[in-house]
Amino acid sequence: MKRIGLLTSGGDCQALNAAMRGVVKGICSMTDEVEIYGFDEGYKGLIYGNYRMLSSQDFSGILTHGGTILGTSRQPFKLMRTPDKNGLDKVEAMKNNYAKLNLDCLVILGGNGTHKTANLLREEGLNIITLPKTIDNDLWGTDMTFGFQSAVDIATNAIDYIHTTAASHRRVFIVEVMGHKVGWLTLYAGIAGGADIILIPEIPYDIDCIAKAIHNRVKAGKDFTILAVAEGAVSIEDAALSKKVLKEKRKKNPYPSVSYELAEGIREATGEEVRVTVPGHMQRGGSPCPYDRVLTTRLGAAAAELIMSGEYGYMVGVKNDETVKIPLQEVAGRLKMVQPDSQIIKQAKRTGISFGI
Ligand code: F6P
Repeated sequence: MKRIGLLTSGGDCQALNAAMRGVVKGICSMTDEVEIYGFDEGYKGLIYGNYRMLSSQDFSGILTHGGTILGTSRQPFKLMRTPDKNGLDKVEAMKNNYAKLNLDCLVILGGNGTHKTANLLREEGLNIITLPKTIDNDLWGTDMTFGFQSAVDIATNAIDYIHTTAASHRRVFIVEVMGHKVGWLTLYAGIAGGADIILIPEIPYDIDCIAKAIHNRVKAGKDFTILAVAEGAVSIEDAALSKKVLKEKRKKNPYPSVSYELAEGIREATGEEVRVTVPGHMQRGGSPCPYDRVLTTRLGAAAAELIMSGEYGYMVGVKNDETVKIPLQEVAGRLKMVQPDSQIIKQAKRTGISFGI
C-alpha cells in the first residue's frame, strides 16, 4: 500500500489540477493499492492537520480546470521556524501530521518559496517529490514551469487588445506583466504581442533611452508605442541602490506600481499621452493552455514513476524536452533569471525591440 500526501502551495496557476491528475493517474496505472490524502490550502493544511482522503475519481475531469481543488496559501519560508500565535512549532507539526498518516511520500506543487520549505522537510527526513509550478518560470533546474505558457497566452492577448486602441488613439501604452523578480513572462508575452519596448528586472532601464526609442518611432511615422513592462522592472538609478534603500523608497512612492511612475516619466520626457493597463491576477486564471496540459501530464507520469520506485528528494522538471529529476537541494533558494546576453534577447533586439538601454 502506498500512502501519498498532496499539497499545492503559493500563488495558484492554470495547470495545478492537471498536474495532480497526472500524478494520480500515473500511480493508479501501476497499482490499486494506494491511498491519497489532499491537504487543504498548502502547508497550512499540513501544519494544522486539515486534510481529506481523495479517490482517483476526484481527479477525473479536472485536466482543463484552472485553480486547485485543494486550495492554496502563501506560508513564507522565513516564518517556518517561527512558532505560530499559539506557540505551535510549524515544522514539528508538519512532521507529526506526516507521521500520523504514515505517509510514504508527500507530493508538493509550488514555486520558489514552496521549494525552500519542501527542501527543509526533506532535510527533516520526510520523503518529498515536487513539481515546478509558477507563471514566473523562475525555478532553477527546469526549462519550463507549468502555468508559464498559459500566462504568456493571457498577457499576449492583453497586448493584442491594447494594440488596436493604442493605434486608434496614437498613444503610448504600458502593459504591466506579472513575473515577480524576473522577466520571463514579460519577455515572452512582449515578443509574442509585438511590443516595441520590453522592460524586465534583469535589464535596468534608462528613461532617456525609452524617450529616444519613442521619438524614433514617431519620426519613422509610427504614431503609437506599446511597452511590455515587468512588475519588477527597475530603472538604472534604482538598480544602483541597496535593497534596503530601494524598499524604503518604494514604500514612500505614491504610485501603485512601477508602471505608473514610468508613465509619468515618459509623459514628462516626450509630451506623449500615456496609459497604463494592468492585467494582474487574470494572468493566473482560467483553463491551462494545451502546452501546460501536456507538460503536467508528462511531469505527473514521471513523478508517479519516482514514487513507485521509492526515489524521493527530487523536483521533476523538463530539460531539452525530456523530463528530469533534480535534487531538491539544488533547486531550493535559486532563481532562474533571464540572461541579458542570451540568444533570445539578442534576437529580440535584432528585430528592433528596445530594452530601454
Ligand atoms: O508568483 C506568481 C505571482 O503571480 C507573481 O508573478 C506575482 O508577483 C505574485 O505571484 C502575486 O502574488 P499574490 O497573488 O500574493 O498577490
